[in-house]
Amino acid sequence: MPRAAVAAAQETPAPLDAAAFYGQHCAACHGAARLGGMGPALLPESLERLRPQELAAVLRDGRPATQMAGFAGQLDAAGIDALAAWLRAAPAAAPDWSAADMAASRIVYHPAGSLPARPVFSADPANLFLVVEAGSHHVSVLDGDKLERIYRFRSRFALHGGPKFSHDGRYVFFASRDGWVSKFDLWNLTLAAEIRVGLNTRNLAVSDDGKWVLAGNTLPQTLVLLHAEDLAPARVYDVRGADGTASRVSAVYDAAPRASFIVALRDIPEVWEIPYGAAPAAAPPGRAFTPRVIALGEVLDDFFFDQRYLHILGASRNGHGQVIDLAQGRKVADLALSGMPHLGSGITWVRRGREVMASPNLKQGRISVIDMQSWQTVAEIATNGPGFFLRSHENTPYAWTDAMMSPRRDTLQVIDKDSLRVVASVTPSPGRTAAHVEFTRDGRYALVSVMEQDGAIVAYDAATLREVARIPMDKPVGKYNVFNKTTRSSGTSH
Ligand code: HEC
Repeated sequence: MPRAAVAAAQETPAPLDAAAFYGQHCAACHGAARLGGMGPALLPESLERLRPQELAAVLRDGRPATQMAGFAGQLDAAGIDALAAWLRAAPAAAPDWSAADMAASRIVYHPAGSLPARPVFSADPANLFLVVEAGSHHVSVLDGDKLERIYRFRSRFALHGGPKFSHDGRYVFFASRDGWVSKFDLWNLTLAAEIRVGLNTRNLAVSDDGKWVLAGNTLPQTLVLLHAEDLAPARVYDVRGADGTASRVSAVYDAAPRASFIVALRDIPEVWEIPYGAAPAAAPPGRAFTPRVIALGEVLDDFFFDQRYLHILGASRNGHGQVIDLAQGRKVADLALSGMPHLGSGITWVRRGREVMASPNLKQGRISVIDMQSWQTVAEIATNGPGFFLRSHENTPYAWTDAMMSPRRDTLQVIDKDSLRVVASVTPSPGRTAAHVEFTRDGRYALVSVMEQDGAIVAYDAATLREVARIPMDKPVGKYNVFNKTTRSSGTSH
């Protein structure tokens, strides 16, 4: 090689052949086609929530206390960037997840009827909390009376959307980012069955009659209906709009009073309703499981339902809010909201004889309160900063909100539901993010997440606001009370 060429080669090393590097160093754990294996899936959809610096840091340094080692020894900064860019790009061959793949993935640990139909613990089974610990992918089960942990188990990688309970509270169903649906028997504290329904999943819903689970995917663009009993697939819906455009699913919901599932779609201006029962509000007999399409003026992907599921309050990506009458299948009002309302975290209560709905705002420090008959905004309550959650309970005069997306992320504000004023605040751990409140079944205690590694669940007396318990947790992103969820408390999301 001429001397000049040698010098040039030393200055500019050959660019990384990312595909080859992946095949050699990553495929054994993440799968040859990046669909996951012992490690998580590494498709662009899988990595959507990972910021660029976070992705580079994982590749360079790995993740402590996991099988994921860092590659700083083999790759320089440019190599890390090239590998990251390759992971962000779609694979040459479009990934597929067929009915056969799905069927082959299903595991039945305990067939229905094989375990005792009574709890193996003495705690009130209706006052249990499930806490999703995102840090190391675990779920804790808390006794809501004693405020103690009674069990902890490993979940699939990155649970998505809240866990959903069967109506009797015995079973809880989880969806994971990479498409796993898990059925857990809470009375026996053991997994009952699992199946992988897709490669990237948003969330799931469980029918009020306990027979069906519907999972909404973004990859492939499908809805998967499962028999709740053993997670056997019953039907796969391709999600396409009237003009044939394929769409990702943003979320699926159980509209219990209508005996139907409602499906929010991310890429097309439609809402789907899939009846699973014969309730009068649902489709005529014989139409069960056939989607009824409600055409919208624009894509709506953040939803709130009134308690009877007569209306959807929806927000578009630019924050425009509107009300859809579900029976009529059309828009009946616009909502005067600004910023980026987070309707999905809304709650309702009766104030001075009128039902009101309140929701936080992802871009502005305020809670909007809307009259549920006139659809007018009755108050805008100024808060410390943009927040994510709002929670209350039938038995407490207060609603609690966070300011998670602001410098005051460590403090929750307590709002009086009658005066609509902020009356108090709590700071569980100064400087550390506090958010997501859920009440015990009687509304006596409010449980707050310190949502960080080495975080905690902190329980407050909901009347005196005094701390009564603190339970260490690894990034507890959400907690779910069996009673409040199965009775569809108006103070929490369903
Ligand atoms: C020995 C198995 C193993 C090998 C080899 C491996 N990983 Fe991982 N990787 C894992 C595990 C397990 C995790 C999940 C860690 C956790 O719990 O956060 C992970 C996590 C990741 C994540 C973070 C994913 C997310 O959504 O948070 C990325 C990115 C990643 N690996 C990329 C790679 C790349 C690229 C290679 C090859 C250069 C590689 N890994 C090699 C096991 C492995």
